[in-house]
Amino acid sequence: MKTIRLLNADSLPSNHPFWNSTADCEIQFCLAHQKPDGTTTNGIMRYNIGQSSVTKTYMESNVKPQTIWDRSKYLNIWVVKFSTSQSILGYAQFPGGSGNTDGVVIAHTAFGYVGTATAPYNNGRTAVHEIGHWLNLYHIWGDNFCGDDLISDTKPAEDANYGCKTFPYNVNNACGAGANGEMFMNYMDYSDDNCLVMFTFGQKNRMKAALNGARASLFLNPNTCNYPVGVSSIDIAKNTIDLYPNPATDFLNISYKGDLLFNQYAVLDATGKIITKGEIKSLHSRETIQIPIQSLSKGFYILKLTEGENSISQKFFKQ
Ligand code: ARG
Ligand code: ZN
Repeated sequence: MKTIRLLNADSLPSNHPFWNSTADCEIQFCLAHQKPDGTTTNGIMRYNIGQSSVTKTYMESNVKPQTIWDRSKYLNIWVVKFSTSQSILGYAQFPGGSGNTDGVVIAHTAFGYVGTATAPYNNGRTAVHEIGHWLNLYHIWGDNFCGDDLISDTKPAEDANYGCKTFPYNVNNACGAGANGEMFMNYMDYSDDNCLVMFTFGQKNRMKAALNGARASLFLNPNTCNYPVGVSSIDIAKNTIDLYPNPATDFLNISYKGDLLFNQYAVLDATGKIITKGEIKSLHSRETIQIPIQSLSKGFYILKLTEGENSISQKFFKQ
C-alpha cells in the first residue's frame, strides 16, 4: 500500500499550503506469504461464489464469513462486482467490529490500475480510503454539514467533494476552513483518484492509535509477512545525496535521490562527534531542504540523514 508511505509521485508539491500537514504515515502492507494453515500463497485467492454480483448484505452474511482469514493476522480485502442497485466503490469495517466480517470490500472497477479498473477510480485510491476507515478514520466532512472527523489538522468541510476541485476551494466556508479552503485532496474525501493525495499528521496519529490498540495483534504475527515490511527491500546503494554549495558558508542544501524517507539529519565533525541535529519532515526524492550552518567553524563535516535503521552520509566543507 505504497500511498500510505507518501511515496507516490503525485503527492502535493512542497510549496503547497497543505504540504506542511502532509504526513508520511509509515504504514506499509505486504501481500500475505502464508495462508492461515501455513501453506505458501501469493496472497490472492479467487472464489467462485456462484453468482455474477453481490450486495453488501450478501457479502456480510455469506461471502465474508466463509472466506475470511484470521483478522488478528491479516487485513482482508475482497474485490467484488457489486450488483448495479448498489452504487458503491467500497466499504470498510472500523476497528472493534465482528471478527467474521472484518476488512475492506472494493468494487472491481475501483481496484488497482489495470484490468477492470475504470476511470476516474483507477489509481488505487479507493483501497487507501477504505484502509483509512479500517484504521478508524472518518470522512473529513464528518458525514454531516461541517461535521467533525475528530482530527484537528484536516480543514472542516461542508460536505463531500467530487471530481477534482481547483485549489483553493470553498475558501472561508461556513465551518471555518479559512483562506486555504477545504482539503478536497485528502484521502478521506470523495474526489477522483487522481486528486486524492494526502493524509495529515492528525490522521496518521489516529491510524497509529488503531494499530497500537484494536489492531495491535497484526504486529505480533511475523509469519504472515516473511520479510521485514518496508524499507529493507530497498537497495541503499541506489540512494544518493547531493550537498551544495560545497564548500558552503551559511546554508547547506541537501537534495536526495532514492526510495527512502528521512526524518532526521545530523552534522558530525571529522571525528564523528554530533555537532548539530534536527528533524526534517519526510525528505523524499523530489525535494531539497536547507539547513543553517552559520555557527560551524571552518573545516570538514559529515552530513548524515537517518530514518530508523537507515542512514546515508556525505562529506562537506564549511568555509
Ligand atoms: N465511497 C466510498 C467510501 O465512502 C469510497 C470513496 C473512494 N473515493 C475514491 N476516489 N476512490 O468508503
Ligand atoms: Zn468512505
